Amino acid sequence: MKGNKIKQWVFYVLCMGLWPVGSEASDPEVLKPRVPQAQIEEARSWKNPFPSTSDNIEKGKALFHGKAFCVTCHGINGKGLGEIPGLVGKLPRNFTDKAWQAEREDGELLWILKNGSAGTAMASFIPLVVTEEEAWRLILYVRSFGK
Ligand code: HEC
Repeated sequence: MKGNKIKQWVFYVLCMGLWPVGSEASDPEVLKPRVPQAQIEEARSWKNPFPSTSDNIEKGKALFHGKAFCVTCHGINGKGLGEIPGLVGKLPRNFTDKAWQAEREDGELLWILKNGSAGTAMASFIPLVVTEEEAWRLILYVRSFGK
């Protein structure tokens, strides 16, 4: 028992040492799927009907910074705002994190925009705030942060 405690502590200290200096590298917690296991296969099969053209990305951008108010939590640069007073659960995602971008299918992001991310401040936005078509364009804009 005592040995385990020490091992845990050593592990913890090592992890702190490996902790990236910037916030560019991803926290493994962030990479875990947000869509429940029972629905993830279906969500991953949903494909974005809109091509990633500059026109569609611009439309997504206008929504992100405008009526869909994503910017209030995800920030102008898509990196999230860090500690936001009153936010419960996980912090807003850093959209410039390439590992996170690679981990997610577009359909999973649409699922989140429909259902929110349970236990976090990420609420459901479809259909009350944006339509599904608008959400797909928002996703194109979210993807543009990873490029
Ligand atoms: C009130 C704050 C808030 C607003 C407004 C908000 N988000 Fe989020 N968002 C979050 C938080 C917090 C998370 C992290 C949730 C988690 O870790 O599961 C998140 C996560 C996400 C994710 C990642 C989910 C994943 O699979 O990792 C996407 C995509 C996203 N938000 C898109 C948006 C878009 C698009 C908008 C605007 C329509 C928006 N968010 C508005 C707080 C917000």
